[in-house]
Amino acid sequence: MNFEKALNERIDFINEGLKTYLKPQYPEIIYEAMGYSVFAGGKRLRPLLLLGACEACGGDIKETLPFACAIEIIHTYTLIHDDLPAMDNDDYRRGKLTCHKAFSEDIAILAGDGLLNMGFEIMLEAAVKSGDPKFTKAAYTVGSLCGVKGTIGGQVVDLLSETKKADEKTLLYIHKAKTAALIEAALKAGALIGGADEETLAKLETAANKLGLAFQIKDDLLDITGTAEVLGKPIGSDDKNGKSTYISVFGLEKAQKDYLSLSEEANEIFESLGEKGAFLAEYCRRLVDRIN
Ligand code: IPE
Ligand code: IPE
Ligand code: MG
Ligand code: MG
Ligand code: MG
Repeated sequence: MNFEKALNERIDFINEGLKTYLKPQYPEIIYEAMGYSVFAGGKRLRPLLLLGACEACGGDIKETLPFACAIEIIHTYTLIHDDLPAMDNDDYRRGKLTCHKAFSEDIAILAGDGLLNMGFEIMLEAAVKSGDPKFTKAAYTVGSLCGVKGTIGGQVVDLLSETKKADEKTLLYIHKAKTAALIEAALKAGALIGGADEETLAKLETAANKLGLAFQIKDDLLDITGTAEVLGKPIGSDDKNGKSTYISVFGLEKAQKDYLSLSEEANEIFESLGEKGAFLAEYCRRLVDRIN
């Protein structure tokens, strides 16, 4: 496998799909704001995991396109809302002004709402059109992980922990819910479309939680050690907001150590998926050294 070539082809595949869903129509301003944030940049981590999981389970990645796009669209809604003045109040995202700065706060709120609903519309359209219950299960899985039991719950406790420092258990909940849940949704949706058995789904759930926690630890680390130019978002945002982060709760040394061990444990699981999981395993292995 030529990994770089496969990676670029997959990113193009995802971006082409996204373009079809975000074609401007009336009322143009909302499509413009949604498209602005989706196409501002971004690693496309979650759709790439979704494709990789489908492939690792023996599925056809072409079948995943609606779900790959939906998961990126839903992720982008979380970013738009996360940046709002009432939340992290950040001015840059993906190397460009945040949605509420480029447009206005009211339009940014609605662009986030629009993207969240569009994500579900896309997944359910695929489920209805095919009639195959695996797509319904995949949509249900995403829904159960990006709501109050997942991303939204995590964001709530993240905000509550600005004024009151989180204890260790609470911090682990925040990271699992606000970040690992959507990563779990991506991996499980892909696996379900690929026809995964229960054992593989359970394996991927474990790997997702380790990878998701590692991913947010690294995000917390980059907020201190990264640069705004490379990250495309401001550094020092967590400090500015008095956030509870892995570093503020566990210390820098443990953050760096746990980041590496969790990444390693997740990667061992991805590697155990065998030859069909080669892309997924390699993609996750390369994530360890990410700088943005
Ligand atoms: C940022 O996610 C939000 C977190 C959960 C840390 P990404 O780091 O995947 O952001 P993009 O999609 O590449 O912009
Ligand atoms: C991200 O946490 C969680 C989301 C669900 C968007 P952060 O607030 O740390 O993400 P960044 O650093 O702004 O991307
Ligand atoms: Mg935040
Ligand atoms: Mg933020
Ligand atoms: Mg952050």
